[in-house]
Parts: sequence; C-alpha cells; structure tokens
Amino acid sequence: MKQTATAVAPSNIAFVKYWGVRDAALTLPYNESISMNLDACSTTTTVTFDSSLDTDEVAIQWYGQPARPTAGRPFERVVAQLDRVRIRAGIEARASVVSANNFPADAGIASSAAGFAALTIAAASAAGLQLNERDLSILTRQSGSGSACRSIPDGFVHWLNDGTDAGSYAVSVAPADHWSVVDIVAVVDTSIKRVTSADNHGRVTSSPYFAVRLQEVPGRIEQTLHAIRDHDLGALGVVCEADAVSLHVVAMTAIPPTFYWNSGTMAVVHALHRWRDQGLMAYFTMDAGANVHVICSDADKTEVDQRLRELPEVQWTIVNGPARGAYLVDPT
Ligand code: PMV
Repeated sequence: MKQTATAVAPSNIAFVKYWGVRDAALTLPYNESISMNLDACSTTTTVTFDSSLDTDEVAIQWYGQPARPTAGRPFERVVAQLDRVRIRAGIEARASVVSANNFPADAGIASSAAGFAALTIAAASAAGLQLNERDLSILTRQSGSGSACRSIPDGFVHWLNDGTDAGSYAVSVAPADHWSVVDIVAVVDTSIKRVTSADNHGRVTSSPYFAVRLQEVPGRIEQTLHAIRDHDLGALGVVCEADAVSLHVVAMTAIPPTFYWNSGTMAVVHALHRWRDQGLMAYFTMDAGANVHVICSDADKTEVDQRLRELPEVQWTIVNGPARGAYLVDPT
C-alpha cells in the first residue's frame, strides 16, 4: 500500500505574538496572536505512507543545499506528528517525508511554522483523513510548533484561544488580497539560535513582566484587527512594535534571561526611527532572534528595501507580501 500527498505552506510573521505555553503537551498558548502569511517563504512537503517501509524516513532540502536525511530532535518531532495522524486515521504504515524550503533557514524566519503546516496537511491527506480547516489548524498546533497553526488559513490570521484544545485554533480575518502590506526581513544575524522559542515558552512566568504583557495583549489584538480592517499601517506599526518589545522584555527578564537582539538589530531600529522622521512609514517586529521584520506599504517597499540593504549591518533582505494559507498540490 502506498498513499501520497504534497502540500505547500507559507511561513508567517506575527503582529501580536504567541509567547508562552500554558500546556506543553497540547501547545496551548497563554494568549491569542495575529499574523500574516508570507508569500516569499514557503515549504513544500510530500508524505507517502508506504507499508513496505520498516521505519519513517525524513529528508529535508534546505534552501540552496541538497536534500539530506534528518535525525535527532527534528526527526523525532516529525515522527510524533506522523503518529498523531496515524492514530486518527487508524493506519500503521511508516512514511517517507521529503520537504524543501524556498528560503534560507538561517534567515530567522519561522521555518518550523511552514514546515509543520505543510507536513500536517500532506500527512492528513495521504492518510485519507477528511479534516476541515479548524481541525487541521488544531492538529498542526499540536505538533509543538504553535505558530504553525496560523499558516493553515489564508492571508491575515487570528489564533483564537479559550484555553481548551478544541477552542485553540486559527481563523482567517482577511484574505491575502485584502491589503498589500509588506514584510521585509532584514537579516543581520545568520548564526544558529542559542535559545529556541520552545525553551522560552516554558519559562515566561519567571518574568515579572509576563503578567503585564498578558494584560496588554487583548487590547493589542483588538487594535490589530481594526488596523487590518481599515488598512491602517500607522496603527498596525505602533501595535507591532509595542508587542515585539514586550515579548523581548519578557525574554530578557525571564530566569534565565535571553537577549535575542544584537547591534545589527538596534541599527535597523534606529534607522527606522530616522526614516520615519523623514516621513517614510516603516515599522519593526522581531521574533525569537536578532533579525528584523520591517513592515511597510507596497508603494514604499522598493525604497525601504534599498535603504535596508545599504545599512552595513544588513546582510540581505527578503521581501514578502501576504500569502494564502497552506494547500494541497494537485497530483495531476
Ligand atoms: O511556534 P513557535 O514555538 O516557533 O514560537 C513562535 C514564537 C514567535 O515566533 C516569537 C512568535 C510568534 O507568534 O510567531
């Protein structure tokens, strides 16, 4: 028996971020988050359940490199997700997984979000499961890469959270063509992350500022939903920056603390302040790393991108518009 399916999933950038996990087994977050899918950063994954295989086989082709077998923790996380699908579908066949990223893994872009969204959709389809978007989002969240559940719906996405497994899933609040806002990734650091987001999700409550952050987030969620609805870049930018700073304050004051930013991060932040004084609307956000995501309008993207690339600290940039969510690729 051989059953196969291929899926493509975008990475996403959160405007209001997920930071802290309340239930690690189910990846239930403390707070809701809102993101935009990224059209220049996606993963394509083929899953084949094959009864002649003795063991699962996982090969990942990182951008610009040949595909290579995966071992260790990344392999175990993929197998655990295949197991969730197998249990639901009532099948036992092992699988071959082949996955390719179209963006550099060292750019500080959530490759796990795109990767686990594509894996989940391809595996569920190959196993014959008929899941709606909500159930796919829940199953993707359970992979442990929580932000991956936001790569399932289209465009601008709200990860809802009522503290339960059934009530923690992502929905689209607007399609990709609703607003041509741009996220330019300014790469200032290509080193491997020393402290992963998973490490920090478990220690947020050790920061005295986490309780403050949790009080602020619902207001930011509302403001972000309004900014998306009204195409209000200025309002979105203010919320985005405040939320990113709040996340990093929590990381910097947790026990043990993590300092993700480097001098390149701050060079971009200060440049954005200068450019805003000159009338150019461009705003920052950062995930669990030093690289800066710069949010601006489609009309300004060439100017902002050129200015970013002229900064000595910026190694390269990736320009993203909004993207549709994860989808199956027709085999024909
Ligand atoms: O989904 P994870 O475990 O990779 O955590 C994502 C954490 C951030 O990227 C920093 C925030 C977010 O909401 O994407």
